[in-house]
Amino acid sequence: MDKLIIRGGNRLSGTIPISGAKNAALTLIPCALLTEEPMTLRNLPRLADIDGFQHLMTQFGISTEIHGKRAEEFGRVVTFEASRITSTVAPYDLVRKMRASILVLGPMLARMGEATVSMPGGCAIGNRPIDLHLKALEAFGAEIELTQGYVKAMQPDGGLPGGDFDFPVVSVGATENALMTAVLANGTSRLFNAAREPEIVDLCNLLSAMGAEIEGIGTSDLTIHGVDRLHGATYRVMADRIEAGSYACAAAITGGEVRLEGANAHDMASTIHALRNIGLHIEEDKKGVSVAANGALKPTDLTTAPFPGLATDMQAQLMSLLTKAEGTSVLKETIFENRFMHVPELARMGADISTEGRTAIVKGPADLTGAEVMATDLRASMSLIIAALAAEGETTVRRIYHLDRGYERLEEKLQLVGADIQRVGDD
Ligand code: UD1
Repeated sequence: MDKLIIRGGNRLSGTIPISGAKNAALTLIPCALLTEEPMTLRNLPRLADIDGFQHLMTQFGISTEIHGKRAEEFGRVVTFEASRITSTVAPYDLVRKMRASILVLGPMLARMGEATVSMPGGCAIGNRPIDLHLKALEAFGAEIELTQGYVKAMQPDGGLPGGDFDFPVVSVGATENALMTAVLANGTSRLFNAAREPEIVDLCNLLSAMGAEIEGIGTSDLTIHGVDRLHGATYRVMADRIEAGSYACAAAITGGEVRLEGANAHDMASTIHALRNIGLHIEEDKKGVSVAANGALKPTDLTTAPFPGLATDMQAQLMSLLTKAEGTSVLKETIFENRFMHVPELARMGADISTEGRTAIVKGPADLTGAEVMATDLRASMSLIIAALAAEGETTVRRIYHLDRGYERLEEKLQLVGADIQRVGDD
């Protein structure tokens, strides 16, 4: 298994191209199930999770054609064609490796009248139930059965009537599944307290390009008028706001300055707001975001929340940055339980962080030193890289398959701006 070796202390400076958003891609790909016509996605990030999802699609009999395979290119163009779906089952072996597989449940049900998906197991950042996905589908008239670790969803005779669902908790994935189901229902459906993350807007835009009728895009109340059929489309995946925010933290902790080419300032407004409070100078324009250190880092208090609040996927990276701020910061995690697994690893690098329930108190500035570390989820792994960039000496990060799931060519991008980071095979 590969590991990353980082020698801290280099000031990052230069331009980093921002890739297509992993979390958007994971909900755009299953839209191919909704039409027999080809659907082409541009700017797909080259990531293990995306490869895994493409593999799942081929399992259903869907053809995938990759254009533009040149190794030096960031992003891919892939055409999916679901003219003939030969299986409606997402098996355990594929689902257990990738939780997002649950996102095929809705579109498969809507197109084929039935769908069977293995239930995703536990997850490193908490329980992560799928009850809201199932309740939303039931509200549209689906019949749901749970047997032998699988969820089976079926349409009643005459098809799905559609219906209303009010989410008791804001859920990105359940909103996505609900949208991908309601677009082909017989009648009109309404979603209240729906997630309105930029990735949901991206999904709505693709569905609209395919002929779906959705009102309220970008708000938490969505009205979907079901249509008989959807057609193919070509669509460009949005920029990854979490990748951009992660590299902003990386540059900031080294006292550097980077241009995040292709980043969308609107989508990452809460992160930009936090970074400005921490004392960074940020400029936004239509083609990207520029981040520059501007004197000492200041402490700040942060609370994660559904969009437009601060993304939970930025919590670990901002925590690393705040270990270098001059004073005490308080971070509250409201979305997931058990999302502080990076804390003991950061402590091994010299950070002063205490936790109580879902609150972490970070006392800075810490003298970070390199260490052997590993993390158990994607964003936690990135927080260790950020700390390592500012640490004295050498850090070895293990279990980097988490990073390969979500950061396209991470070490190449960091090398572009002057980081001393190498990938080596494990001994
Ligand atoms: C998505 C993102 C993930 C991000 C998260 C929150 C993808 C592939 N992943 O995950 O990176 O951290 O949004 O922005 O897009 N919940 C339930 N029942 C459900 C579903 C969710 O109780 O059926 C709860 C969860 O336990 C959690 C909260 O709702 O506490 C939010 O989870 P959700 O928004 O669904 O996260 P995901 O879609 O899994």
